[in-house]
Amino acid sequence: MQKDDDTSRLPNHIALIMDGNGRWAQARGLERREGHRAGAESLRRIVEESSDLGVHHLTVFSFSTENWGRPRTEVSFLMSLLERYIESDLADLHSEGVRVRVIGRREGVSKKICSLIDRAESLTANNNRLFLQIAFNYGGREELADAASRLARRATNGTLDPESINADVLAAELLTAGMPNPDLIIRTSGESRLSNFMLWQSAYAELYFTDVLWPDFSRADLEAAIAFYADRDRRFGLVSATGELD
Ligand code: IPE
Ligand code: IPE
Ligand code: MG
Repeated sequence: MQKDDDTSRLPNHIALIMDGNGRWAQARGLERREGHRAGAESLRRIVEESSDLGVHHLTVFSFSTENWGRPRTEVSFLMSLLERYIESDLADLHSEGVRVRVIGRREGVSKKICSLIDRAESLTANNNRLFLQIAFNYGGREELADAASRLARRATNGTLDPESINADVLAAELLTAGMPNPDLIIRTSGESRLSNFMLWQSAYAELYFTDVLWPDFSRADLEAAIAFYADRDRRFGLVSATGELD
């Protein structure tokens, strides 16, 4: 079951909405693709730094189901960026004990990228220093609809009793099955919305929004987000540990 019970000061699972690449480029008079390139560098740094800080699970939002609606050249650049990221970084990620999983629909994703994803996942399957989950062609509503559809199919063919469907059964059908829920969700670039990211899993996450654009997001920014998290009183619908009504 996916639990929301982490009360330690360091989030066990951080999820990142890496936003602001386009504005970063625009502010420098560059093409948007330069912002995405700088964003990929930022991701490299943050993966390393999260691992250094002792974070065990990191999910990064790299391409949403809605992002298909962007200009064709931008979409294909983003596809090639994931391809290059896996090709160039897989060996290092593996040697650093990072387990990689890509969550999202495979429809529309090239055969080449799908096979790279398979290779990355199988090569790193037994690593346990940091679990890096890349949300690519991911949408929270689609994830929930796909899970509902699979459960409905099993109910129709008699292998699942509809009465037995509860929150745990549904969570086990999600792409994130087996992963704890995020404790802290960080969104860069000043937007305070989830944009279809981890709708189910975010139920009890602490949300941290910063104006910093993703390519500029540094270790100090990550530490500031973790310090914010450490200050929260996570009550999970209960009363606070002190029991005081304040
Ligand atoms: C985030 O940066 C990367 C993706 C969504 C793929 P954006 O490309 O959304 O950058 P802004 O929001 O336009 O600045
Ligand atoms: C969310 O950012 C998706 C990713 C970071 C991959 P968007 O830039 O697509 O979100 P909106 O359009 O501002 O809501
Ligand atoms: Mg954006």
